[in-house]
Amino acid sequence: MNLDIVILAAGRGTRMNSNIPKVLHQIGGDSMLGHVLNAARKLESQQIHIVVGYGAEQIKQEFSTDKELQWALQEQQLGTGHAVMQAMPSIDTTKPEMRVLVLYGDVPLTNFSTLIKLVQQANANTLCILTLVTENPKGLGRIVRDDSGEITAIVEEKDANDEQKKINEVNTGIMVIPATKLNTWLNSLGNDNAQGEYYLTDLVAMAAADDESAISAMVIDDENEVQGVNDKAQLAGLERQYQMNKAEQLLKAGVLLRDPSRIDIRGEIETGSDVEIDINAIFEGRVTLGNGVKIGPNVVIKDSKIADNANILQGTNIDGAEIGEGASVGPYARIRPGTILNENTKIGNFVETKNAIIGKGSKAGHLAYIGDAVLGENVNIGAGTIFCNYDGVNKHKTTIGDNVFVGSNSVLVAPVTLADNTFVAAGSSISSDVPADSLAIARGKQRNITGWKRPTKK
Ligand code: UD1
Ligand code: CA
Repeated sequence: MNLDIVILAAGRGTRMNSNIPKVLHQIGGDSMLGHVLNAARKLESQQIHIVVGYGAEQIKQEFSTDKELQWALQEQQLGTGHAVMQAMPSIDTTKPEMRVLVLYGDVPLTNFSTLIKLVQQANANTLCILTLVTENPKGLGRIVRDDSGEITAIVEEKDANDEQKKINEVNTGIMVIPATKLNTWLNSLGNDNAQGEYYLTDLVAMAAADDESAISAMVIDDENEVQGVNDKAQLAGLERQYQMNKAEQLLKAGVLLRDPSRIDIRGEIETGSDVEIDINAIFEGRVTLGNGVKIGPNVVIKDSKIADNANILQGTNIDGAEIGEGASVGPYARIRPGTILNENTKIGNFVETKNAIIGKGSKAGHLAYIGDAVLGENVNIGAGTIFCNYDGVNKHKTTIGDNVFVGSNSVLVAPVTLADNTFVAAGSSISSDVPADSLAIARGKQRNITGWKRPTKK
């Protein structure tokens, strides 16, 4: 498409009361600028330019993996028109069909579908503005139309007269401008206004005065799509809106949410059929939930796959793991990166796993740490069992065969192997390998002293 996109992101965002540049504040686990870029990338423009100023280096760093982005520096924030001027040197203004779409790094929730409609509505000579009709136009630029309904100008609130202040159609800021004209108009842009700024919005009056140019407007229905963020309250408001949209999508897809207002999705979630999610679940990164998966209350799941009919119980934390079909995890389990729980495994309360592959049907019901280990099928890890994987310097591996039983309160000092069908007596400290089909007892022998008297108080 003969389109360049300019994203304005130079403002500090003083009202955020933060040292973090405004556009790096997050909604749904991604920065506001990240959201804008996601929509922008789908438009398949020639180039995406980002105008940065406050926190420029930090912002560039955040998006450094995308080598195609064009960065323009606006050292002083002299207005939206001035900001666009900074991107002009890298925009091809010689091609007559070339157009520029202006977006804002602090307006995160504009849908791709809205943008593509706006772009398609504009032709090579049209300046196309996205507007909003609102009951609360305060602070926003007003769309001035003549008697025949043609747009003649945008007047900023601070420059508007009483009559103009009553106009309830406002400028969202998002517009498409023919590149050649944009260049010409910006060159004659002044800053003789209440704020002493170079207003991008003044281009509209210039277009109206230009015989060849047309102005068109597309009125948006959903206010949230064009809502900008200036403070933490607005950030929190949009976050909720974003989450409600996500919740609605899940409900539509057939997911049962016990309360759609108590779920947070900070990334992408894929769901099978008949998934049930109880309250206060948080999903981060990429999460897949298979058919019939049940998620209990207060569960946090990040970058993980949960297979069909698995049951994740209350208060469980899962990160970077694969949970097999029919597995049961929790309540209060901590499943850390590199964990693979195979079919029908059971991990109970206060069990922590890390870098552990646990075979079909194996269980660790209570209070255990399983780290850097491979367990076979039908293993039972007793309560209080600790895999001592760390000698203070290096990590070591524990290997456990099939049908192994580890008695309660045992420590397995890695590197160590328990072969198939071994049985470890409760309270053992196992530091050497156990051969198949044997019992290992490694603990002090019990002595009973008969007739023993308790000490008396002196
Ligand atoms: C702007 C519009 C107004 C519109 C409103 C919608 C102008 C003159 N006014 O007003 O008509 O109703 O947006 O929210 O365009 N920015 C820069 N460099 C600058 C100035 C701004 O990068 O020198 C960026 C800001 O970081 C922000 C965006 O541009 O992301 C909008 O700037 P802001 O000052 O908030 O404009 P408004 O006064 O709200
Ligand atoms: Ca603003």
